[in-house]
Amino acid sequence: MKTKIPELSPNASPADILRIGIEAAGGPVSLACSFSLEDVAIIDIAHQAGIKLGVFALDTGRLNEETYEVADALKVRYHLKIEWYFPRHEDVEPLERSEGLFSFRESLDKRHACCQIRKVEPLSRALKELSGWVTGMRREQSITRGDLKAIERDTLNGGILKINPLIDWSEEQLVSYSEEQSLPKNRLYSQGYRSIGCAPCTRAVKEGEDARAGRWWWENPENKECGLHRR
Ligand code: ADX
Ligand code: SF4
Repeated sequence: MKTKIPELSPNASPADILRIGIEAAGGPVSLACSFSLEDVAIIDIAHQAGIKLGVFALDTGRLNEETYEVADALKVRYHLKIEWYFPRHEDVEPLERSEGLFSFRESLDKRHACCQIRKVEPLSRALKELSGWVTGMRREQSITRGDLKAIERDTLNGGILKINPLIDWSEEQLVSYSEEQSLPKNRLYSQGYRSIGCAPCTRAVKEGEDARAGRWWWENPENKECGLHRR
């Protein structure tokens, strides 16, 4: 039987959303961690509220060194055990041999093919173990995320629950929380990055640009999802 989506009061805090979502999932729940400000804040909120939450990360093979440094800092600060998932070598080797190392710049299809191998397939393996997953997505991040719910059913991943505790947080709120709690922070943020994914598909943004303008900057805004959050 499918888990019921619980009702949430409009002023539910991130900790409330986490607690209620995890209880409703009724089984193991983990945070998908990209080591962003959002994901680090969720780890801290769960830690402070005494909420037990697993953490997994998708190592695409193309992440920045600065991102791995955050993973190490979290390990020290929270004694965190991170479940790493890698792409399958039998998919990556033919991709690199036949398409080269930057095929994702050539077309949207080729970009999706790379994301499928490096992110989506490993994600589906990670989610097979779970009754629910937590993400750091926020509504204001992009036009593709405006209708996000705090707790929703992930129909593309077996109907498990998807819990988005920071859904209503603004970037300002997030930055203040990170500063107040002195949270580990990816050094790329101080170089003008505002959203961080794989190294070759992410750049710093300029004054006045959208926060996600540096992700797949050669594509149109409506295409800027990699398949992790297809709905
Ligand atoms: S993406 O789809 O455009 O790459 P984004 O970087 O905004 O996603 O991150 C949104 C959320 O997706 C993160 O807060 C995190 O929960 C999850 N996520 C993104 N990348 C990864 C990753 N490499 N490993 C684990 N979770 C990830
Ligand atoms: Fe490949 Fe870029 Fe997608 Fe990373 S973000 S998986 S490098 S296309």
